[in-house]
Amino acid sequence: MEKIAITNKKQTKEDVLRQSLLKERGQIPEHVAIIMDGNGRWAKERGRMRIQGHKAGVDSVRDAIEACAQLGVGHLTLYAFSTENWRRPKAEISALMKLLIQTLRKETLNLNKNDLKLNAIGELERLPSVCLNELREGIEMTKDNQRMVITLALSYSGRWDITNAIKSISEKVKNGELQSEDINDEVIHAHLATSEMPDPDLLIRTGGDFRISNFLLWQSAYTEFFITDTYWPDFRRTNIYEAIEAYQTRERRFGMISEQLYEKEKEKAAASV
Ligand code: IPE
Ligand code: IPE
Ligand code: MG
Repeated sequence: MEKIAITNKKQTKEDVLRQSLLKERGQIPEHVAIIMDGNGRWAKERGRMRIQGHKAGVDSVRDAIEACAQLGVGHLTLYAFSTENWRRPKAEISALMKLLIQTLRKETLNLNKNDLKLNAIGELERLPSVCLNELREGIEMTKDNQRMVITLALSYSGRWDITNAIKSISEKVKNGELQSEDINDEVIHAHLATSEMPDPDLLIRTGGDFRISNFLLWQSAYTEFFITDTYWPDFRRTNIYEAIEAYQTRERRFGMISEQLYEKEKEKAAASV
């Protein structure tokens, strides 16, 4: 696979080794989602303004993107701004939007060069128009890229997503395109903002809080959770490796019992010889 250059840092031998061990050890999650929390507390502990924490968090985003792409993760979804975050002080919101615009301007070309596809979910019309334009340009420029999809959840909430899906499904029922008895898991999945991606396999939350904060509510039904006390600005690829290691030890039963999983594995192995 082609080399990736997002952080401008040369990959160390130890890092190459750690990644290959991780790949040999078990499955790499196809979809990793991250609640990037703790920027404010990180800044406060250093006697700095909250926005400094958000700024410092950009380096963590770069490192996470690079490491996930190197590992072969297919989808990386980053919770960057929730519907409820619009309730924050105006000054913090506008500083965050400015940072988002600057970062998109600076990084889009780089994402494109590295075959990374940018995507966004959420009530994007609420974003300032400059921000929305940058985002749309980035999405358009990178639309044919294959290596990994980076989805920014912006002005996003799980309830907004589900409400929207219900609205479009009921519209279709009303005009006869869909029968209400045909509504099932797949139909709902197809009407969510995440219709183009698989459900997240691994959800990481930094900043130590044990809650979902209105993130991918429908989609995380069987997602494995990894919560770390590390604040987002301190979060680096080694923390991702820890999360994936933990993920690889989990038994994902999806409601079944261990013996059934074992039987399935045996059948799969028999079919592959
Ligand atoms: C996460 O960090 C970033 C956003 C929600 C935009 P916070 O700003 O929530 O940081 P804490 O949780 O207050 O430390
Ligand atoms: C969750 O963090 C949202 C993002 C990281 C964008 P919050 O800081 O908004 O979550 P709560 O309010 O502590 O639940
Ligand atoms: Mg927070």
